[in-house]
Amino acid sequence: MKIAFFDSGIGGLSVLHHAMKILPSEEFIFFADEDNVPYGTKSREEVLSFVDAAFKFLIAQGVGAIVVACNTATSVAVKVMREKYPLPIIGMEPALKVGLDAFPNRKVLVAATAITITGEKIRRLIKNLRAENLAELKALPNLVEFAERQEFNSAAVEKYLREELANYDWENFSSMVLGCTHFNYFKDTLRKILPPHVKIFDGNAGTVNELIRRANLKSSPTANRQSLTIYYSGREVIDAAELARLEKFLRRLDKMEAIE
Ligand code: DGL
Repeated sequence: MKIAFFDSGIGGLSVLHHAMKILPSEEFIFFADEDNVPYGTKSREEVLSFVDAAFKFLIAQGVGAIVVACNTATSVAVKVMREKYPLPIIGMEPALKVGLDAFPNRKVLVAATAITITGEKIRRLIKNLRAENLAELKALPNLVEFAERQEFNSAAVEKYLREELANYDWENFSSMVLGCTHFNYFKDTLRKILPPHVKIFDGNAGTVNELIRRANLKSSPTANRQSLTIYYSGREVIDAAELARLEKFLRRLDKMEAIE
């Protein structure tokens, strides 16, 4: 089946990277809306229209399912897209439940974009999990920019994260949840800064499991060979230098995967 992974930029590659490890026979499409990244600092109306344009393009490619590998786009647009388009649409959800299940009654810091943390969707998630006193929300918008320019573990990244995370009483927290797919590139720096007892959770496995369930996929190999086609806002990426740059993101994700 042709399966699309969609994000504002290269964050969604982290979810696709996980999917490619466990689904050996699918035809993957990755769509990064590079013309419009970042989404997290734009208005909800703008993001909704960007997502709709991407969906129209992907559906015209004949995809059988779309993974919205972007918490921000999920927060703003997944409901509208599901009403509009009759195919399995899988969204991202910050892994707050994973954090709370692993460490009941302990605080969780959910880091995401400004749009995600001020949205109705996360408010409802917190309410449903009865986590009003346990979930704290934090926007880390600069990480999106750092990731897009492949600045993963520079002194500037470390300084930014140290400053942003300095004012938490970490003794009260069990974990930090990465509620933006761009943040997955920074697990090594985060691990360096956070006290060892604070675990790092992402939503990748949960989303891919949901894709397997909703699109009825098999994780055993078939006669089909896995393939990947990449688009930047509707233009296929064929330039060798750009493909090599994308490969660097994937190799970075190989290293980040084991960090928790
Ligand atoms: N990768 C995105 C997310 O998961 C959004 C980043 C952005 O475009 O601001 O929220």
